Amino acid sequence: ALISLRQLLDHAAEHGYGVPAFNINNLEQIQAIMQAADETDSPVIMQASAGARKYAGEAFLRHMVLAAVEQYPHIPVVLHQDHGASPAVCQASIRSGFTSVMMDGSLKEDMKTPAPYEYNVEVTRKVVEMAHAVGVSVEGELGCLGSLETMTAGKEDGSGAEGALTHDMLLTDPEQAAEFVRETQVDALAVAIGTSHGAYKFSRPPTGDILAIDRIKEIHRRIPNTHLVMHGSSSVPQEWLQVIREYGGEMKETYGVPVEEIQEGIRHGVRKVNIDTDIRLAMTGAMRRSLAKNKSEFDIRKFLKEAMLAAKEICKARFEAFGTAGQA
Ligand code: G3H
Ligand code: 13P
Ligand code: NA
Ligand code: ZN
Repeated sequence: ALISLRQLLDHAAEHGYGVPAFNINNLEQIQAIMQAADETDSPVIMQASAGARKYAGEAFLRHMVLAAVEQYPHIPVVLHQDHGASPAVCQASIRSGFTSVMMDGSLKEDMKTPAPYEYNVEVTRKVVEMAHAVGVSVEGELGCLGSLETMTAGKEDGSGAEGALTHDMLLTDPEQAAEFVRETQVDALAVAIGTSHGAYKFSRPPTGDILAIDRIKEIHRRIPNTHLVMHGSSSVPQEWLQVIREYGGEMKETYGVPVEEIQEGIRHGVRKVNIDTDIRLAMTGAMRRSLAKNKSEFDIRKFLKEAMLAAKEICKARFEAFGTAGQA
């Protein structure tokens, strides 16, 4: 059944587990996530970015998720809108049947310029009013995602905050977080701790100075009843980077967020863990390998099935590592 984010995260908090929130763009990703959830008995969060809505179309995404719910009636599913740029964007998603929306007021509507705190409170509060009236949950974000190594948003394609960010902007302030939650009444709060979107997060295996899990502990101590969200939480598996390179792809040296660090976050209030890049890397590696090994094949299902299997294995591993398995 489709449920709200609040319902799922309240259960997760009560039972001390985290839930991966996987980005979806197409049928194969949705199938992979649902098969993994079915095999591990896990509740699911599927989230669609603005890019996904542009790629697949809002109606296709919605109907594919409804098909997933029909095929797996025993699995609770949250359909979440990732990084809403404005109250209008969130309103459209609420109308179209999303059970949860993220209002990302940490950036202005251009999704590049860091926004003032007052703007963030204003737009987020507005979305909470709209959403809660119809039983939809809201995730807010305080602080800018970005790299403490380079003081930039980090993502290669330039999406996310533009220009130089300061150390202060890259780490959510616990006191301000408490005020933000009180003023907006969000159901979940995304925090900035040095992670960024995409494959290029860290130039070396991260240590506490560039991945601030301790900041999560401070925030959780201040607002123990707020569900925390980690963005940019792909682990960037070295094995898949290797497969991509072996079969003609180009990936520079890079490191993601270790699963053990996410587990530490889950012990301190993290309930939703956003993952997109890991599925992209696994599917890319599997497709490159399958194409290279089957040069006369042109039944695309062969390649897509390998990609789906690779994505499924990533999802299963995260469900198991975060304690989601067995909670459906
Ligand atoms: O927010 C970041 C997610 O990885 C979505 O990426 O905007 O390319 O779909 P996207
Ligand atoms: P990754 O790029 O680390 O997978 O993060 C995804 C994300 O935060 C989506 O909102
Ligand atoms: Na989100
Ligand atoms: Zn994100």
